[in-house]
Amino acid sequence: MNAKVIDGKALSAEVLAEVTASVSEIQAQGLATPCLAVVLVGEDPASQVYVRNKLRQCEATGIRSVEHRLAADTSEATLLELLAKMNADPAIHGILVQLPLPAQIDEQKVIAAIDPAKDVDGFHPENMGRLLAGDESVLVPCTPLGCLLMLKHTLGDSLKGKHVVVVGRSNIVGKPAALLTLQQHCTVTIVHSRTQDIEAVCRQADILIVAVGRAEMVGADWVKPGAVVLDVGINRVERDGKAKLVGDVDYAAVASIASAITPVPGGVGPMTIACLLRNTLQAYQQQR
Ligand code: GUN
Repeated sequence: MNAKVIDGKALSAEVLAEVTASVSEIQAQGLATPCLAVVLVGEDPASQVYVRNKLRQCEATGIRSVEHRLAADTSEATLLELLAKMNADPAIHGILVQLPLPAQIDEQKVIAAIDPAKDVDGFHPENMGRLLAGDESVLVPCTPLGCLLMLKHTLGDSLKGKHVVVVGRSNIVGKPAALLTLQQHCTVTIVHSRTQDIEAVCRQADILIVAVGRAEMVGADWVKPGAVVLDVGINRVERDGKAKLVGDVDYAAVASIASAITPVPGGVGPMTIACLLRNTLQAYQQQR
C-alpha cells in the first residue's frame, strides 16, 4: 500500500481563507478588527521561528497583531503585569505566550493568569476543564484541533467508532487530542514512555496520533496496515551533513503500509497556525 499524503498546507489554506473572509466581513461592518497579542520571552531560536510564522499569518488574514518581545531575564512579576494589562484591554481578543518560558518563570502560573476568554492556546485550566466536560464552545489547543480537522477531512463520518491511539500525554497535544477524538465517538487509548509493549498497542490503532518529540521513533512495525497516521513531531536532525526536519514517524517506512499519513514539514504544522487564527476569530466573536 502507498499512503495518501494528507496535505496540511492545502487544508490550512482552506481554514485561513475562511478566517480571512470572516475578518473582511467584520471590517466591512465597521467593527473593531480582531487582534492577537503574542508574547515571546528570551531568544529560543525555534520559538522565534514559530512566533514569526504566527505573526506573518495574522497579517495574511487581516487579523491585527501585537508583539511583545521580552528579555530572557524578565521576571515573572513583569510578565504577569503585562498579561493583566492585556486582559483588561478590550482591543485585544487573543493572548498567546510562547512556550517554553525561562526557568525563573512558573509556566502554570502564567497560563492561569491569561483571561480564559482570550486564551487562544486553550491551555488555561478552566478551558481544559471545559474540554474535559465536552463543552463544544470552548477554545481548544491548536495542534490537536488541527489534527481533528485533518481526521474529519480524511475520514468524514467514518471517524466515529475508530480506535485512536495517541502516543504522548502532554497537556498541549496528547491529552487534548485524546479528549477531542473521544468527543467524536472514537475509542481512545493514550500510550507513553512507561507503556508496556507500546508497539503492540499502537498496532491496534485505526488512527495513530504521534506527539512525543523523538525523531522517527515510530517505525512500520508499530502500524497496522491501512491505518491513518498523524505525525505531530518536528525534529531537527542532521542527515548526510545537512540539517533536516523530520517527524516522530519514520515517514518512508510507514507510508508504505498506512492508508494516509501527514508529511513533516507540510502536515500538522501549518494546521496549528491556521487553528490559532481560527481560535482568535472565535475568541473575538465570543467577546462581542
Ligand atoms: N510552544 C510549542 N507549541 C506551542 C503552542 O502551541 N503554544 C504556545 N504558546 N507555545 C508553544
